[in-house]
Amino acid sequence: MTTIIKDRLKEFTTESDWKSRVSAQKSKEIWSIGGGKGGVGKSLTTANLSICLALMGYKVVSIDLDLGGANLHTCLGANIPALTLSDFLTKKVSNFDDLITPTPIDNLSIISGAHDDFGMANLKQVHKAKILHQLYEMDADFVLLDLGAGTTYNTLDFFLAADKGIMTTLPEPTSIENTYRFIKSVFHRKLSLCDQLLDVNHLIDQAMNSKITGESNPSKMINEISNKYPELGEIIKAEISDFIPNLIINQTRTQADIDIGFSMKFICQKYFGFSLDYTGYLEHDPSVWQSVKKRKPLLTEFPNSPLIHNFESIVHKLIPNQIEKNQEKVG
Ligand SMILES: Nc1ncnc2c1ncn2[C@@H]1O[C@H](COP(=O)(O)OP(=O)(O)OP(=O)(O)O)[C@@H](O)[C@H]1O
Ligand SMILES: [Mg+2]
Repeated sequence: MTTIIKDRLKEFTTESDWKSRVSAQKSKEIWSIGGGKGGVGKSLTTANLSICLALMGYKVVSIDLDLGGANLHTCLGANIPALTLSDFLTKKVSNFDDLITPTPIDNLSIISGAHDDFGMANLKQVHKAKILHQLYEMDADFVLLDLGAGTTYNTLDFFLAADKGIMTTLPEPTSIENTYRFIKSVFHRKLSLCDQLLDVNHLIDQAMNSKITGESNPSKMINEISNKYPELGEIIKAEISDFIPNLIINQTRTQADIDIGFSMKFICQKYFGFSLDYTGYLEHDPSVWQSVKKRKPLLTEFPNSPLIHNFESIVHKLIPNQIEKNQEKVG
């Protein structure tokens, strides 16, 4: 089965192009997968993007940061790893690499999330720093983080720490509202963490907490701050242009569901002032629950699933930017 997918992925590029991609990969790329709500496909997305990248020849480590609700291993068809992040955070294990557990898929390993005693909400600053330090040091081409639901500062910080932040949402009002709440919280957090903007933090808070009305919205208010303090305005503009989260609409059934991504992109630009990259959609497909039930990875065990094409196109949308980035670094 794996060969089928591998061949399909190779169809996108020639083999030499594919190999040069791998060698052009000078440093690793961290992708985080988050979203405001539970059950919107974060683990499914993390697992299957990881599998796509691994099948393309990249060395991938998939990390379950859904502390307290870790289940990424199920989507990857792996057993529960014997050691988890809890063991590292409680110093039972001193070497982070000991947590890396192979999966049935070549090039793909997993680090399992902590047990119930470590929720994301009460992960201490020192723990977060410890994990981040290890992530940057890891020997891998790609590190993917399954963040779990919620908008705690820790979740937002892991989302921001990644090279790419990917959100999944369902095409239904409650999920969409939660996604806006999540993305607004991430953006707010990003501006709040910028030391140079400390003096205008209270104004940024007002802007980001303001209601959207006919006359005003967070984007307009942030622009007003930029105009009033032109030097800080340049910093704000740089922060905004550096913030391009990726959006995936999951469980689409109709064209109208697919089009929601374009509306969300428009709304983020208009009312919050930042660009959203609508990276793609994943169709609703009963194979997903079958794969979860059987504890088998979707991409390798269900080759007729329409999600294979969906994931292929998402990965190939996410990768070119990354190659350009590396080529820039090399040049
Ligand atoms: N594209 C899809 N088609 C059909 N069912 C899906 C699809 N995506 C997800 N599901 C269903 O939704 C469930 C939840 O998906 P997943 O575990 O990836 O969500 P999650 O966002 O990680 O949830 P949590 O916040 O609880 O960790 C899956 O077990 C599956 O049953
Ligand atoms: Mg999950």
